[in-house]
Amino acid sequence: MLTDTLNTTKSEDIFAAAQKLMPGGVSSPVRAFKSVGGQPIVFDRVKGSQVWDVDGNQYTDYVGTWGPAICGHAHPEVLSALKEALEKGTSFGAPCALENVLAEMVIEAVPSVEMVRFVNSGTEACMAVLRLMRAFTGREKLIKFEGCYHGHADMFLVKAGSGVATLGLPDSPGVPKAVTSSTLTAPYNDLQAVQELFAANPGEIAGVILEPVVGNSGFIAPDAGFLAGLREITKDEGALLVFDEVMTGFRIAYGGAQEKFGITPDLTTLGKVIGGGLPVGAYGGRRDIMSMVAPAGPMYQAGTLSGNPLAMTAGIKTLELLGRPGSYEQLDKITGKLITGLLQVAKDNGHAVCGGHISGMFGLFFTEGPVHNYEDAKAADAQKFAKYHRGMLEQGIYLAPSAFEAGFTSLAHTEEDIDRTLKAAQVVLSSM
Ligand SMILES: Cc1ncc(COP(=O)(O)O)c(C=O)c1O
Repeated sequence: MLTDTLNTTKSEDIFAAAQKLMPGGVSSPVRAFKSVGGQPIVFDRVKGSQVWDVDGNQYTDYVGTWGPAICGHAHPEVLSALKEALEKGTSFGAPCALENVLAEMVIEAVPSVEMVRFVNSGTEACMAVLRLMRAFTGREKLIKFEGCYHGHADMFLVKAGSGVATLGLPDSPGVPKAVTSSTLTAPYNDLQAVQELFAANPGEIAGVILEPVVGNSGFIAPDAGFLAGLREITKDEGALLVFDEVMTGFRIAYGGAQEKFGITPDLTTLGKVIGGGLPVGAYGGRRDIMSMVAPAGPMYQAGTLSGNPLAMTAGIKTLELLGRPGSYEQLDKITGKLITGLLQVAKDNGHAVCGGHISGMFGLFFTEGPVHNYEDAKAADAQKFAKYHRGMLEQGIYLAPSAFEAGFTSLAHTEEDIDRTLKAAQVVLSSM
């Protein structure tokens, strides 16, 4: 069906060497093409909406380094701010004024955040927020949702999304049962299941954590009333509500999902976009809760490189760019055109498909749908997705190598990029 036009000789050589050096040849499992077949493309450079591999092939990119590249890769203003910051050193291990700047920006933007702590990744942010939930409430149990991913810490590796779902892994070996016995799970968008868990564990649940818009089982939006219902239940139960906005923060709106849907959680985790492509995560929320974090309070959490000036600089410049008028309208317009077009092309070619977008986050499932949760997502045609993925790659379109990952656009994506992508989709989907 598809011509194997792509020359990936150098990628193959580098990946073959990498497999002898690193488990699976990658530094993070989702980068491997295990669920879609073939070998990963080894990147050489990135710019705007485009990426180039080591063989010189060019692709329009809808992964955006898994979310951070919302202004476009290697944005000139981010690079120039970084070059300036670099001259002053890469890490201080002491307070730095840039932390205040980014903290003020986050507090100003994200409704729930009155105080913030910077860390180095989304995983770290989620680990710390759970410790804080437990410290503040004096309760140990946690509710998470099937197919949601909150990083790779032990207590979240229960029915997790992202790479765990992509690779079809069971809950990971090496995670002590004692750790996950306090992790309770419910299907996403199922308020009744949450109520039942609270009823079965009275006074024991510290809180509920969720992706307010799911990106790690593919793109799944919350049903009307789901977030508000969780807010109400947690309040009634004296438990905390935590939005993991590592993916959605500054992506689906400047103030994240909580701004978009008008529901304010007690605590929020952030990552990806706030680092502008450098390693940053953060957790924040109500002042009374955050005041428990050391050294203000007794809950310990620390980090050698946390709040380093380079990462802060990339974050500050990225948020500054996003704060300019029209950013989110632009993301919404371009992404709307993309997903509407993709769904139409798929349907025109006889494929059962459903999908959607919010601002610069989108997804498509090869199933009639609707998809409300991970079980629904699993019913989508994985083999078809793999063929689609390979076909699009050969047409110069780089999609996440997994049916269980959302796609991302950026401010650098143009109408021409979208037109080219839809043309590619027509070639691929008409031949499947
Ligand atoms: C919602 C969510 N939480 C947490 C994480 C973990 O973040 P990191 O990969 O930076 O550790 C991710 C990563 O994809 C995520 O999407």
